[in-house]
Formats: sequence, structure tokens, C-alpha cells
Amino acid sequence: MNPASRLPAGLPALDDASTAHAQAMRDYLARQVQQSEHGFMPFEHWMRLALYAPGLGYYAAGNTKFGAGMPTGDFTTAPELTPLFGKTLARQVAEILERSGSDTILEFGAGSGALAASILPALADMGISARYLILEVSADLRARQQERLADHGVTVTWLDALPEDFSGCILANEVLDAMPATLFRWDEAGALQELGVRLEETDFAWTERPAPAELADIMSQRMPPLPGYRSELNLQAEAWVRQMGAWLSKGAALLLDYGFPQAEYYHPQRAEGTLMCHFRHHAHAEPLIHPGLQDITAHVDFTAMADAALAGGLDVLGYTSQARFLMNAGLPELLVASTRNGTDPAAAGRAMSAVQKLLSEAEMGELFKVLAIGRGIDAPLMGFTRGDRRDRL
Ligand SMILES: C[S@@+](CC[C@H](N)C(=O)[O-])C[C@H]1O[C@@H](n2cnc3c(N)ncnc32)[C@H](O)[C@@H]1O
Repeated sequence: MNPASRLPAGLPALDDASTAHAQAMRDYLARQVQQSEHGFMPFEHWMRLALYAPGLGYYAAGNTKFGAGMPTGDFTTAPELTPLFGKTLARQVAEILERSGSDTILEFGAGSGALAASILPALADMGISARYLILEVSADLRARQQERLADHGVTVTWLDALPEDFSGCILANEVLDAMPATLFRWDEAGALQELGVRLEETDFAWTERPAPAELADIMSQRMPPLPGYRSELNLQAEAWVRQMGAWLSKGAALLLDYGFPQAEYYHPQRAEGTLMCHFRHHAHAEPLIHPGLQDITAHVDFTAMADAALAGGLDVLGYTSQARFLMNAGLPELLVASTRNGTDPAAAGRAMSAVQKLLSEAEMGELFKVLAIGRGIDAPLMGFTRGDRRDRL
């Protein structure tokens, strides 16, 4: 399996341990595909197993490589780039805590724990002693977070399930894009097909079937049937946002991720969708190779997320680009303060180049967005005072 012909050019070779891991994962997936109804595994199911199957999935098996370190890192997230990201976010978090009358932060999908490690000390500097909760689906990442945060002397409590009732500030950085997405294609007759995976001899292959009526209904409300057009939607992420309405009684959630409003997401020119894989800083679009060794993501349809929040009885409090949000929340002042006289010039240079990456339109500044949803909180929040784009959703 994994024929060389399908490997995107330039991907680094696997070492022995990775080869053995990928083989174990392929054997597991092959059994799962065989057991699926008519041998068809919906792509959403494939992505869930490839990322989260206990002991084997990319996020569940000790494979996740956060950070810029070459050649082993797979991708770098904003909290990993610089603590200034978390310090800036802390200002917005402080405002939400104050307006919700709570001292509690709940972070979803905390990765390596970098965000908590920068937010908690920044809040302490503002005289705020906050309670920090993390809900992480990956047992391996949870263990890594525990180790890292203990090293930083930061106190955090891990939750095993969603709270029944919550007040305070919720954070999710690059979590929605890691939730399993459904893939579809409009066929030449204007009917919606759902994409899935089947076994072809000993390899995995793409396949499709007529989409269930509910999926076809949803997609026909979101875009016209463009023959050959292939894209994705994230029903799990939408359900997660909608469900927040059942347990968030007062406060706001900041959802940070790459994505666009629906009209841009399903733009006729984006005919191949947004599915991406990350392996050692190489981005490509072949999710059926290297299962368990590479990240698989889809961009976020922020209109769908805002609609899900409204359907859950929540308010949409703000939507803007990451650059605008960070500028509004005071990143430039924090950068200046961190590079004042006495700072090691090399560290100052690193801080400046990280901030440039966070803000630049060509890097994370424009593709990444921040959506704030909540209940019982007065808008505007500081991160959205200028450049709020809710009207584009
Ligand atoms: C791309 S990583 C981002 C990690 C971190 N937030 C960062 O920015 O560095 C995605 C994270 O979301 C977690 N995750 C995915 N779905 C989740 C869910 N439904 N609830 C909690 N965590 C989830 C993954 O295990 C992983 O920690």
C-alpha cells in the first residue's frame, strides 16, 4: 500500500519507526474499511480514525509534531510561534472574564500547552488569578500538556467531558479545522455525491456514493450545484458550536482558525476544496497516504459556525482577521515592551519576525480569523473594535 506514484514530490522519507507505525495504521484502517457497509468508509470516518484512533491516530499516538523545528516539526501554530500571541489574547480573555463575572478559562484542544503557558502568567501580571481548564481529546497530548505546564509551574485542571454549565472564557485555537470533515462532489447531473474510501486490491482508493438526503439538502442551501466541484463541510464542528449553547450560560468563546465566510469558501474557483495535509512542514492534499503520521485539516466555514451559534441560542459577538484582532488587542505595544533596551538582540529579532508572521497578510494575518460567540456579554469586545466583519458572514 501507499504506492510511490501517489506520494507528493519532495516529501521526506520515513524512518523505520514511522514506516512500522504507518503499516500498523494501514492494517487497522483496512480492517475498518472492510467492515464498513458496502466497503464504503465515509471520508469523515476515515479522518476521525487517521487523527484520533487510540494509540494509532496522528493526534493520539505521540506523532504530533508541533513547532518550527526542522526537520521534525509538521506545522507551527500561533501559540508555538511566540508567547506574545498568548499575551495579547490574555487581554481579550481578561475583558471577557470581567464581563462574565467569572475567573474561569476553558481551552479546547490545547496541543502542546503553549497557549496556557503564555496566558496564565500574562493574566497574573494583570493581577488576575484565573482558573484554567483544558478539554483535550488526545490522551497523548494531554500527557504532554501536563508535563509542559508542570515545567512552567502553571496550574491547570483537565476535564474528561464537556461541563454541564459554564461561565467564563472559552478558547479554541486551530481546533475546528482538526475536526473530521465530510467531503462531497457535485456530479455532472447536478446531484451531490459523498466521498469515501474503499479498498482496491491492497491499497486505499477514493470512491463516492449518492449523498444522504440531509447532506444534499444542506449543501444545496449553501451553494449552486457546479459539476465536478469538490469541497467539504464540517457537520461535527457545527454540532460542537451549536451544543455550546446548551452549556455556556454566561461568557464568550474565541474560535481562532483559518477559513472564510461561506461565499468565499464555496467560491466557484475553489473547485478542489480546502483539505490539506501537513507532514514535516510539507503541505499537500493526499490524505490517504501516511495515515497516522500526518495532520489532515479542512478550512473553517465561519458562516456555518456563526449560524450554528445562533441555532444554539448564542450571540455572534465579533468576526475579524487574526491581524486585526491582534492589533485591536494591543500586540504592537506588547512587542515594543518585550524588545525594550536590555533585551537580547537575537531574542528581539525572533520576536519581531514571529509577530510579522502573525500579522502579515501573506502569512497568518488574513487567512486566520477570529470568531467570538457567547451569551450575556456586551459587545464590542476589544479585539473587534475596528474591522469587525460580521456583515460578511
Ligand atoms: C491543530 S491542533 C492545535 C493545538 C493548539 N490549540 C495550538 O494552537 O497549538 C488541534 C488540537 O485539537 C484537539 N481536538 C480536536 N478535536 C477536539 C475536540 N472535539 N475537543 C477537544 N480537543 C480537540 C487535538 O487533539 C489537538 O490538540
